[in-house]
Amino acid sequence: MPKQNTANRALRAALFMDKGGVTKTTSTAHLGEALAREYGLNVLLIDLAGKQGDLSKQFGIHDEVRAAEDDAWPNISTVFAEEWSTIAEKVPDAVEDMIWETDENVDLIPAHEGLDSVDDDLASVNVEDRYTRLDEFLTNYVDPLGYDVVLLDLPGLTNNVTLNGLFATGRVIAPLTMGEFEERQLDQLVADIDEIVAGFDVDLELAMVLPSMYDKRANVDTEMLARLREQYPDRIAPSPITSSQGVPNAQAEGRTVFAVPNDELLATAKRVKDAYTDAATALLQRVDGETATASTETN
Ligand SMILES: Nc1ncnc2c1ncn2[C@@H]1O[C@H](COP(=O)(O)OP(=O)(O)O)[C@@H](O)[C@H]1O
Ligand SMILES: [Mg+2]
Repeated sequence: MPKQNTANRALRAALFMDKGGVTKTTSTAHLGEALAREYGLNVLLIDLAGKQGDLSKQFGIHDEVRAAEDDAWPNISTVFAEEWSTIAEKVPDAVEDMIWETDENVDLIPAHEGLDSVDDDLASVNVEDRYTRLDEFLTNYVDPLGYDVVLLDLPGLTNNVTLNGLFATGRVIAPLTMGEFEERQLDQLVADIDEIVAGFDVDLELAMVLPSMYDKRANVDTEMLARLREQYPDRIAPSPITSSQGVPNAQAEGRTVFAVPNDELLATAKRVKDAYTDAATALLQRVDGETATASTETN
């Protein structure tokens, strides 16, 4: 194995399921906050999920991001362009200027309307370069900024932007709402990952299954959770994310449940907070385990 300097590389993961409404954006934000608050890590979230800008809404900065959008060049869509490295050299602070601080503990690169055309633009790029542009951006321009963790909020469908996100992270966290359709969707994701790994010879793994909008009083939910635990014993998050009105309530105020004072927090939302914290802990442990195994193999 080639010797790699991994010391400066952030832990990367992509929140992905080939479906909308499965809590990808919510989980990106809450997992990021858990890693930043509980572990003091420097966390950067990147919104690749489309111009609606749900991640900046989640953190209550959408209006400001929107107001600045026309002047926001370069932006997250620019990093997929052939000329990106030239742009990055010529524009001072090109990357720093893309990054927004939130009122909470994570930083954010918001979506941009330019993302709309990136999938099409990439389709005409030769295959060797088509899927690696985001990886190069993270390695050459984001890692030097010293983030510990980079989480990607990916589109709820598989396109060239999605594939860039999967190639760049090598690690999928799959939020999964409770239901038969979703369960099949997860099997499909596992098959898709296998196909990508075989077809492109890249490292890509399902790092975590994150059961979400879980209701412990519903038999269908408890039964599905039991099946998932059996099928993915080392991938399943330690605690399911409870369904709680406290989540959309907090989001309507532009914050995560972590930012809601304890005395205002619904009991169910407290469980959401704890479950995301447990997921953050498990993610760090598993990545530590991988690193330990990798260095044993090298020795
Ligand atoms: N734990 C939860 N309990 C209740 N509602 C939730 C929970 N997590 C997310 N939601 C709601 O579910 C909807 C979809 O979540 P979202 O994160 O936008 O999914 P996606 O990014 O996959 O489309 C949003 O309206 C969000 O407020
Ligand atoms: Mg979303």
